[in-house]
Amino acid sequence: MKKGIILAGGLGKRLWPITTSISKQLLPVFDKPLIYYSLTTLMLSNIREILIITKEKDQESYKNLLSDGSQWGISISYKIQNQPRGIPEAFILGEEFIGDANVALILGDNIFYGSSFSNILQRTISNFNKSTIFLFSINNPAEYGVAELKEEKLVRIIEKPNTFISNWAVTGLYFYSNEVIDIAKSLKPSKRNELEITDINNYLINSNKLEFIKLNRGFTWMDAGNSKSLLEASHFVQTIEERQGLKISCPEEIAYRMNFIDKKQLENLIDKIDHLEYSNYLKKIVKL
Ligand code: DAU
Repeated sequence: MKKGIILAGGLGKRLWPITTSISKQLLPVFDKPLIYYSLTTLMLSNIREILIITKEKDQESYKNLLSDGSQWGISISYKIQNQPRGIPEAFILGEEFIGDANVALILGDNIFYGSSFSNILQRTISNFNKSTIFLFSINNPAEYGVAELKEEKLVRIIEKPNTFISNWAVTGLYFYSNEVIDIAKSLKPSKRNELEITDINNYLINSNKLEFIKLNRGFTWMDAGNSKSLLEASHFVQTIEERQGLKISCPEEIAYRMNFIDKKQLENLIDKIDHLEYSNYLKKIVKL
């Protein structure tokens, strides 16, 4: 799997009024924009060809921030989604980008953090034979797609269930085989008039083509979709970073550690950074 899509459109209604002028995924989570967290999750998966889907009015801001990715040894292209017609639209808009490859999708407001995560991601991709979703046990599953499991088998997924199904929320990271494009095209809009990612997942479950990985207790998954969760995510990142002296989801560092860029390229990047704390951090990484 070499291709990844970040979905960074949507109305950001739960962050109104901020999102009338700024795209949600550009808002800060402690010391960096929210989209850095999903972008680096793809980078840690060893995915270097990335499509970012945004609203038209926001595309320029994303290009200013991320450019074409070459500074981090990756390739970033852009596509517009003007109406939030649903998460599966990513595969329809991204059809040409995906070509005949398998594809990872990550929602631009999701944050993953935990020990050995890059190993899990890279192992899943290098042994890829079935589409895979990632489950995380949470307190408030009713806000998410929720997995019904029977004897460790995936029975179905219910989007925002009214009654308790399980604590296993479906996170916003999906590894799909290429057939996802055709499945997305065949979907009908749901009651809330959106194409539903849960319909894709249930289709795959019914054809026995979906696997899941449980992210265990030592792990953190957050979606920073409202002001409370955005603040909580900031506090979380601040606490870990200040305690450990290591940054979470720093693309320059990850590009270097993944060998997407070499020492000389990292040093050139550092020379251009006009932020003392950030550049000092990267200087420390170069010396390690
Ligand atoms: O975060 C995980 C959850 O994401 C899953 O558990 C659910 O199964 C899945 O439906 C989704 O639920 P949300 O309620 O969080 O979906 P939401 O409509 O808020 O969209 C998630 C992100 O994707 C949001 O940041 C905006 C972006 N988006 C969404 C839609 C529908 C787009 O860019 N375009 C869209 O058309």
